[in-house]
Amino acid sequence: MNKTIGKPINRVDGRLKVTGEAKYSGEIPLENIAYGVIITSTIARGRIKHINTSVAEKSPGVIGIITHLDAPKLYARPNFGHEGAAGEKLAPLQNSTIYYSGQAIGVAIADTLERATYAASLVKVDYVVETPLTEMGKERDRAYPIEKFVEFTVEFALGDADAEFAKAEVKIEATYTTPTEHHNPMEPHATAAVWEGENLTVYDSTQYIFGMREGLAKMLGIPHANVRVLCKFIGGSFGCKYGLWAHTPLAAIAARQFRRPVKIVLTREQMFGLVGHRSETEQQIKLGATPEGRLTALIHQGISQTSIFDEFVETFTTTSRTMYAVPNLRTAQSVVPLNKGTPTIMRAPGESVGTFALESAMDELAWALKLDPIELRLRNYAEVHPARQVPWSSKSLKECYALAAEKFGWSRRTPEPGSMRDDRYLIGMGMASACFPMEHFPASAIARIFADGSVVVQSGSQEIGTGTATVMAQLTADMLGVPVEKVRFEFGDTELARSPGTVGSGTAASVGTAVHGAAKAVRAKVVALAQKDPNSPLYGVPEPDIETSQERIFVKNNSAKGETYQAVLARHNLEYIDANFDAKPEEEEEFAKCSFGAHFVEVRVDPELGEVRLTRVVGAFAAGRILNEKTARSQISGATIMGIGMALHEETITDPHTGRIVNDNLAEYHLPVNADIPPIDIYFIDEVDTHVNPIGVKGAGEVGITGIIAAIANAIYHATGKRIRDLPITPDKLL
Ligand code: MOS
Repeated sequence: MNKTIGKPINRVDGRLKVTGEAKYSGEIPLENIAYGVIITSTIARGRIKHINTSVAEKSPGVIGIITHLDAPKLYARPNFGHEGAAGEKLAPLQNSTIYYSGQAIGVAIADTLERATYAASLVKVDYVVETPLTEMGKERDRAYPIEKFVEFTVEFALGDADAEFAKAEVKIEATYTTPTEHHNPMEPHATAAVWEGENLTVYDSTQYIFGMREGLAKMLGIPHANVRVLCKFIGGSFGCKYGLWAHTPLAAIAARQFRRPVKIVLTREQMFGLVGHRSETEQQIKLGATPEGRLTALIHQGISQTSIFDEFVETFTTTSRTMYAVPNLRTAQSVVPLNKGTPTIMRAPGESVGTFALESAMDELAWALKLDPIELRLRNYAEVHPARQVPWSSKSLKECYALAAEKFGWSRRTPEPGSMRDDRYLIGMGMASACFPMEHFPASAIARIFADGSVVVQSGSQEIGTGTATVMAQLTADMLGVPVEKVRFEFGDTELARSPGTVGSGTAASVGTAVHGAAKAVRAKVVALAQKDPNSPLYGVPEPDIETSQERIFVKNNSAKGETYQAVLARHNLEYIDANFDAKPEEEEEFAKCSFGAHFVEVRVDPELGEVRLTRVVGAFAAGRILNEKTARSQISGATIMGIGMALHEETITDPHTGRIVNDNLAEYHLPVNADIPPIDIYFIDEVDTHVNPIGVKGAGEVGITGIIAAIANAIYHATGKRIRDLPITPDKLL
């Protein structure tokens, strides 16, 4: 039977999603459900002087209003990256202090969503208003340096980058800025809380059910074991749903207080403020090089925003420590606390905006040297990890450059800016490197073969739309030699085997290794039963001589000598047989592990209107083994589209005087739409990586959003001769 791994098979949950049968967290039918609507602060700094709920409480259908005056005690959790899915440390409704606009200050509960929404609008709040700190550039005196963020290196030095930059023959020194951005998945955050005695069940749109369980238990001051978190389907999620934000504990306390299930679904406006964002950044890059184009110094430093009460770092210097062979390297970052919410991870946090700066600067250097941008990158190709000086587990970036350049037709490009035209339009071609570190987290799984031959494989995990359920079924099917339709992957429930958050493009590697291990272990159990059984055709046959295919186990090269799983189970009177597996990433630091790629972009710029249209994007990526070419391509093209949004459209605008977000809706916060997206061609370079994990997977998600932004900026420079170092690249900046 043909193996399914690598094949572009359809999503196992595709039908459920397109027919509407899939139930998302806000759609789970629950008896006697009440609706919660969060009341948010309209000021960014100060405190609540009076809050009057008396009119709201008398409004029709209202069950109750909770504010800081009567909320139960909630316990703050550690900051991001520690125990639990900490989005922000702040526990809601614990006192009258306001740190940011849009902060939760109450929740109205009613029998319908409309009545709860109306009641929330009737709550009167008087504030003591203080002047908020809202502008990163103006508050830079308050910046403080970061050595390390969670486990991520930030401050780093190799050689003497400053001295070498000072004496370099060719220099680039530039500052790049990127704005605040919001995640905006189609499905807003949704949660429904149900208590039965001391036990809480939460249906939550989360990327991390186990973290949510632990964070919520800690916040409520109850044992983990009393909390169950379920999440079956997610309508998009780019990091914001990794965190635990105010709405989930608010639903839990309201459900406990009013003794009925409570559901809270955020409004689109609340998606801007209650659940994190990508911080704005101001990044300085200094590149020193020889006239031949060899880098002698690289300095990458700058600032990003954090909140008054949390420390979150947009780790934009990561790629600068990874991408190029440079003997003198220094990275440094500081954060500026402002009266804005706590930023959080958003698709390639750090690397997306960091590669905009680094890969734009490399393009600037290529122009200064009059070198082809690919050639400059090849001259500085890192054969080992530059900061750690260890070999790569695998790296096919050269092949990515070559393949994407050929498919794109890079050779047709004439180097001079403004030299390519089509009628009155300026045509530009740009490229950039892509890179994302491989993440591998501990994960567990159970595989079970039933008497009827069907197979279930389970791991807590979450399916955020990446194809997890599909590739886990494929891994199991291939290991057991059964068709993929016979395998069901069960996930999204803290009652199942422990698994990590769906983050860092690490799920295929982490959960995949666990699923692969569990399937292998259950196969071994069946084989052992047969080997020891005189009634089995496989009696006494050694394990290495046994193969599985077509739902059977049999002797290699002699498929007639064997039997079905069903036959083995039936003879032993077993309803099912199962095995679990705990996968742990190896601690060894022998290898550096990254997915790489290259993006090539063609733009068409209207010189009179400053309008940029993308005409083509071609990318080639190397990410270890690709488990499913269709879902992997979908990940990379989705990330590419998000990168197009960052390059040309997206920007959250805050009124500096009030600290209020002024474009908190999809009309004024511009996400790319179909008309903005050109054909995107994605190619994969096959890699056999035996160092990363038994399945050879590095991860193919976030790498797609790295590099693309710079590739677009570089193409715009090629078209117009204008170097835009401030995102998004809107028409006004080109006129
Ligand atoms: Mo992603 S930012 O790791 O959800």
